Amino acid sequence: MSVIGQAAVDEVCARTARRLAAVDPLLPEAVDLPAGCGTTFVVGGAEGSAQPAAVASCERWEGEPGSVGLAWGAARRFRLIPAIAGPDVATALDSLIEQWHEHLADVHDTDGEDTAAGIVWPSRDAEGIRVLLRHGMAPRAIVAARATRSDDAERASARPVPADIVIRKGGPADIDAVTSLGIALVRYDDYFGSVIERQDTEENLRRDSAQLLGEPEPWAWLAERDGVAIGMLAGLRPQASTWIAPMTSMAPVAYLQQGFVLATERGGGIGAMLTAAFHVELAKAGVAVALLHYSQVNPLSAPFWSQQGYRPLWATWEARPARTLR
Ligand SMILES: CC(C)(COP(=O)(O)OP(=O)(O)OC[C@H]1O[C@@H](n2cnc3c(N)ncnc32)[C@H](O)[C@@H]1OP(=O)(O)O)[C@@H](O)C(=O)NCCC(=O)NCCS
Repeated sequence: MSVIGQAAVDEVCARTARRLAAVDPLLPEAVDLPAGCGTTFVVGGAEGSAQPAAVASCERWEGEPGSVGLAWGAARRFRLIPAIAGPDVATALDSLIEQWHEHLADVHDTDGEDTAAGIVWPSRDAEGIRVLLRHGMAPRAIVAARATRSDDAERASARPVPADIVIRKGGPADIDAVTSLGIALVRYDDYFGSVIERQDTEENLRRDSAQLLGEPEPWAWLAERDGVAIGMLAGLRPQASTWIAPMTSMAPVAYLQQGFVLATERGGGIGAMLTAAFHVELAKAGVAVALLHYSQVNPLSAPFWSQQGYRPLWATWEARPARTLR
């Protein structure tokens, strides 16, 4: 750990932003280093260079009791936030993780099973990936992105909904169906070790879904067969997606929050019809890009979302519990 001035940090962040723009144009244009716990990790530049190659800080997140966010991972999460200007990305990342590992050894609450130590890493920044694996981290949640297309409405109408299926907007009366499909989604994703169903997850989902469905024009769709809900998709408008908007260079951003089809109905186009309805709405609302999360090892998610036009932007790499970081 070294002492570094704000001007030097800003300079590394600016060079990092330029490097990342070449890696993936959908990454944010600016890179900032949050203060985090107050410690800054620094990697010096090549010999003879006064400019550091990388800086990083450490953030700590603790789930609020009663928040649905507790289902999306460990209850206490330590994050290394790196800004790596390069040119040797792998060596700089390796050094930052080593410094962070030493730092976490002195943090009292990294112990415990329900903890994670991780990094949110650009999916296309391939040079760092072997280093992440070597330090005991595995890829968990992916943030995928899809730019809105001008022909989304035509694409949706080119695929008519079969006569025995109804795709309709959801509203407050659908709270039971949306909660039951939402908890089934959590239970399916729970198999893959990223999402964790908590004792109160169903109750928290119900509360959040009631709020979403109570909005004037909620972005929630149900698929029904014979009046029975067999699939659901819920999204957040740009005003409610500001928490994730800084993850991309495009704006406005919308967030696809939940997508689920009953196991007995999968592979029949229901998921695609729900997604098409969402995409039509995005185009109407002038949304530039939609983001969503899926579990890297969920065997249904990546192929399905890829087919719908989404591609990986960020991956959360984590060691769980936090002490398994090496
Ligand atoms: C992901 C999910 C919503 C997809 O719904 P679905 O109704 O089965 O998907 P569709 O039948 O509309 O699939 C659309 C197309 O993708 C194809 N497809 C669907 N799943 C696929 C997969 N796992 N691999 C390859 N192709 C797939 C279908 O064959 C179909 O192709 P076509 O348009 O050429 O006919 C559904 O599988 C599901 O609920 N999974 C469990 C929950 C989950 O993982 N949700 C995502 C969380 S992020």
